[in-house]
Amino acid sequence: NADVVPQAPEDALFGLMAAFRRDEDPNKVDLGIGAYRDDNAKPWVLPVVKKADDIIRNDPNLNHEYLPIAGLADFTSASQKLILGGDSPALKEKRVTSLQTVSGTGAVHLGALFLAKFYKTDSQPTAYFSDPTWPNHFQIFSNVGLSHKTYPYFSKETKGLDFDGFYNSIQNADEGSIVVLHACAHNPTGVDLTQDQWKKIAEVIRAKKHFPFFDTAYQGFASGDLARDGWAIRYFVEQGFELCIAQSYAKNFGLYGERAGCFHFVTSPSADAQSTVGRIASQLAILQRSEISNPPAYGARIASLVLNTPELFAQWEDDLRTMSGRIIEMRKALRSKLEELGTPGTWNHITDQIGMFSFTGLSEKQVLKLREDSHVYMTKNGRISMAGLNTHNIDYFAKAVDKAVRD
Ligand code: LMR
Repeated sequence: NADVVPQAPEDALFGLMAAFRRDEDPNKVDLGIGAYRDDNAKPWVLPVVKKADDIIRNDPNLNHEYLPIAGLADFTSASQKLILGGDSPALKEKRVTSLQTVSGTGAVHLGALFLAKFYKTDSQPTAYFSDPTWPNHFQIFSNVGLSHKTYPYFSKETKGLDFDGFYNSIQNADEGSIVVLHACAHNPTGVDLTQDQWKKIAEVIRAKKHFPFFDTAYQGFASGDLARDGWAIRYFVEQGFELCIAQSYAKNFGLYGERAGCFHFVTSPSADAQSTVGRIASQLAILQRSEISNPPAYGARIASLVLNTPELFAQWEDDLRTMSGRIIEMRKALRSKLEELGTPGTWNHITDQIGMFSFTGLSEKQVLKLREDSHVYMTKNGRISMAGLNTHNIDYFAKAVDKAVRD
């Protein structure tokens, strides 16, 4: 009886995007969804993606056959090297299994589904997310029947990391909990751990026999250096952890709608690691087949060609620097404009935070006021996508913030 189905709320982020599109004000500013925009507020096709696209389209052998269940092998192996490093001990020892997924969301889902089915501890395991986190984490884990809690992460006072809160919460969590970690450029706060802080978190995760689950959607956006942005994951792998990784190419290749991503399961070093990884791969293949049969080809072909061709790879690194460099410029400009205006509060966090987002510290009331009075769109938690700012709208935005804060 279909009339028992209750109305669900609209997705906050995609609802915001739709509201922005409906707004006819010429000065409207979109700081909502985490998607890169150029200095004219337009989507940017990375030049290297355009090049790869041309090569693929002109290939007389191109066809539209199914990919294997685990996806394009050249893509998944290049993805392993990108995130783990070419000389990763886990790759040398063949302790990694990888499946191409429907972008990062599909990778988080496949990992959560696998854990819900096979990860057994004395009690039902709980997944821990940072507070705040990407809101989709909650529903993805709930949908596969895993319960979740949060660990403190962001300090409202310093607008930086609440390291003690984070550490203590992981220490107090039931043994064997799943700890979801943002590898770099934390969404939504733009606040990352230092390498020393990662080491301490790794220690407590080990001591409590927790299971680390990394979400990496912004490699190349945090420091502009791919290896550095992969450091936390590489460190955990070196330390011999068993872990999962959900990897997205939406942002760093600008392949948002092509849904290119990868899921990796890394097992611990042991004599039968290869047989373990083979059994895990066989189960993941069944889950993948029953859900999507096999992944979409196009975005993975583009990423694969770039990742596997040294000249294209070098050009990709340039394109990444173009994106992360423009974002850094906007951070500096926004901070100095707010400071020039004497906007009440401190604004150093705008340049201290990194990656695509800034967690401004604006209250929900101020966010709604900015939308109403100035046609500026950002998520209710005060997150702005820095990529939505440009040399044409930054003055307007800074003045709008100044007004909202003073009112
Ligand atoms: C975001 O947080 O803006 C992005 O990750 C887009 C999404 O899918 O939520």
